Amino acid sequence: MHKNLFKPRLAVFGVLLVIVALVFSVGSPVTAHEAHRQDQTEQEIATESSAPKVDQDPAIVVDESAFDVADFLGRLHPAAVHFPIALLFFAAIAELALLIRPTLGLERTVGFLVWSGALTGIGAVILGWFAGGFRLTDRSETLFWHRWNGTALVAIALIAALIHARKWNRNLFRLLVFSVAIALIVQGYLGGELALGPDHLNLNPKGGS
Ligand code: HEM
Repeated sequence: MHKNLFKPRLAVFGVLLVIVALVFSVGSPVTAHEAHRQDQTEQEIATESSAPKVDQDPAIVVDESAFDVADFLGRLHPAAVHFPIALLFFAAIAELALLIRPTLGLERTVGFLVWSGALTGIGAVILGWFAGGFRLTDRSETLFWHRWNGTALVAIALIAALIHARKWNRNLFRLLVFSVAIALIVQGYLGGELALGPDHLNLNPKGGS
């Protein structure tokens, strides 16, 4: 009885997850996305987007109708990042709450959050590499730091999850999980810079009084 109910529910959940991912991914900026894959700098992206459109040479034929799987996977990156950001951040908050009040009973919650954050983080990183292109260095400094900070923080989250599961060293676990939370703030900011452009939070407004 339970087995029969479980499978359709899992299938519905899977379909819903894909729909949510597609809906979220619709809003990602197309030109910036392509520029990141092509290793362009922020200046080049800005210059290209402000330059007037020149009619293309009819001799150059680009088949835009072909479906590009790698490009599609990269476009799912902005949708995927919300999971590790929220889960790993709340793992740190739950651990902080436990530190302040050990009787809260959040032990299993921390384990669940850190594992689900690390595993969804692997997905986000793989999709991120599709979005940013498979290279070790980038001409854009922002993309370079975003690529390596993101990859490193998920690797550290995985180590933290393992330490938590094996009950190895609680202080080391805390150090790692709090470092991951700080790295996530930097990561989100850099991601915003990539997607929305330099100084996307308008921290240095130009022309102000
Ligand atoms: C857990 C790790 C990561 C997190 C939390 C993260 C977070 C983000 C966020 C919040 C954005 C802005 C999305 C938007 O508002 O549209 C973004 C964009 C982006 N990220 Fe990541 N990211 C991660 C890993 C990576 C990695 C490893 C790469 C590899 C290069 C990467 C490449 C990109 C690119 C290229 C964009 C710009 C959007 C695009 O061109 O499609 N990310 N990321």
